[in-house]
Amino acid sequence: MGGKLIVFEGVEGCGKTSQIQLCSEWLESLGVSVVVTREPGGTELGLHLRRLLLEKAEDKPFGSAQGEPVAELTELLLYAADRSQHVEQELKPNLATGKHILCDRYTDSTIAYQGYGRGLNMNLINQLNNIATSGLESDLTIWLDVNVEVGLARKLLVQVGLDRIEQETIAFHRRVQQGYAHLAASHPSRIVRVDGSLSKEAVQQVIQEILRVHLHLGT
Ligand code: TMP
Repeated sequence: MGGKLIVFEGVEGCGKTSQIQLCSEWLESLGVSVVVTREPGGTELGLHLRRLLLEKAEDKPFGSAQGEPVAELTELLLYAADRSQHVEQELKPNLATGKHILCDRYTDSTIAYQGYGRGLNMNLINQLNNIATSGLESDLTIWLDVNVEVGLARKLLVQVGLDRIEQETIAFHRRVQQGYAHLAASHPSRIVRVDGSLSKEAVQQVIQEILRVHLHLGT
């Protein structure tokens, strides 16, 4: 039996990275082997792409294109390149050996950020998602739903400054949030909404119940 691809999605500061960590520890304690990975940056090549995609203009080394904006289409193609490498090198081989994967962001991020956030053509995004994944869809996507202001404030509590995408306008982040709401409404069997404004422990409890059912773990 192949493993399952479980994806965590949401706006900035929704808490997915810590929830993934807690899930991984919980699943390992039950003897369930999992791989934790992310997009962008789940491969060596992807780490380079992640840096290019997220660094702030002021972090760029002297001599690089100082402050040159990343064109929207370029951004979309770089996320697709990261995904293609990730699917081939990390996701497919692990799923084939029966490992479950907990993945921090996947195709819905591109629809929410580049589609709803940037307003890029949705047909193009869907085509690129299909090409980059060769049709590999998540088995389950957990959408951690938090208010965008709350999420950005959480980010500022744990890090110095915001990265290139976090620095976008509130209106951009609100469109991304609406994107997730539309996606969840359109794919009710694949995407499960979890209230991310609850305490870390309460969110983890809800996610564990969802995973128990989805992975047939029993009680
Ligand atoms: P994160 O891994 O810390 O969540 O940061 C990844 C950033 O990249 C986040 O701002 C969302 C953004 N992103 C996109 O805009 N499109 C994508 O397809 C993906 C995977 C991420």
